[in-house]
Amino acid sequence: MHKTASTTVPVHPLIAERWSPRGFDRAHELGEDSLTALLEAARWAPSAQNSQPWRFLVARRGDEAHEQLFAALAPGNQAWAGAASALVLVAARTVGDDGRPQPWALYDTGQAVAALITQAQADGLAVHQMGGFDTAAVRAEFGLDGTLTPIVILAVGRRDGAAELPEPLAAREAAPRARRPLSDLLLPAVAESVPTAA
Ligand SMILES: Cc1cc2nc3c(=O)[nH]c(=O)nc-3n(C[C@H](O)[C@H](O)[C@H](O)COP(=O)(O)O)c2cc1C
Repeated sequence: MHKTASTTVPVHPLIAERWSPRGFDRAHELGEDSLTALLEAARWAPSAQNSQPWRFLVARRGDEAHEQLFAALAPGNQAWAGAASALVLVAARTVGDDGRPQPWALYDTGQAVAALITQAQADGLAVHQMGGFDTAAVRAEFGLDGTLTPIVILAVGRRDGAAELPEPLAAREAAPRARRPLSDLLLPAVAESVPTAA
């Protein structure tokens, strides 16, 4: 199954063909080099003042950490994410050594994940990001201090188009991908005048 993005002009296949599946191959194991390539892609992302605020906790299926991350997922995510080869907690260092908030940390960490998912696509792997998890439980389980903000858990693995999914997930898996039109994303270059009250 392909769910290639419909674009007004061609974009690179790594971007057009990436999507977030829920059907993962339960037998697939993520090799050390494959995992390292994903983390290297993230490591080389740009960041404000090269601060590199992204942090990752990797848990392969079968690890104790995997059980802990899985237990923290929202039930809707537990319905499918356990089949992925690994779960990766993504956190950002949102408070610096001096105790000051790091205003770009979340932005930068999102960029690192964008690089990671593009590398995964290039390597024939699939990634599905999940914000639906219990951040307090993850903080407590892994002893994350207040300088770290857990953001998402990534399901990483090989897609399985034949994986059985409960409804409505099966329908979502088959549904075409959709986006707002490009025109919705463009802010007017000249501010529209706001009518003043009479
Ligand atoms: C920050 C973030 C949180 C997300 N949380 C969830 C989630 O908890 N469960 C889920 O099934 N998908 C989740 N997604 C996946 C999005 O729903 C998905 O990326 C979006 O619908 C676009 O689909 P596509 O990635 O296939 O293009 C999340 C994505 C992001 C970036």
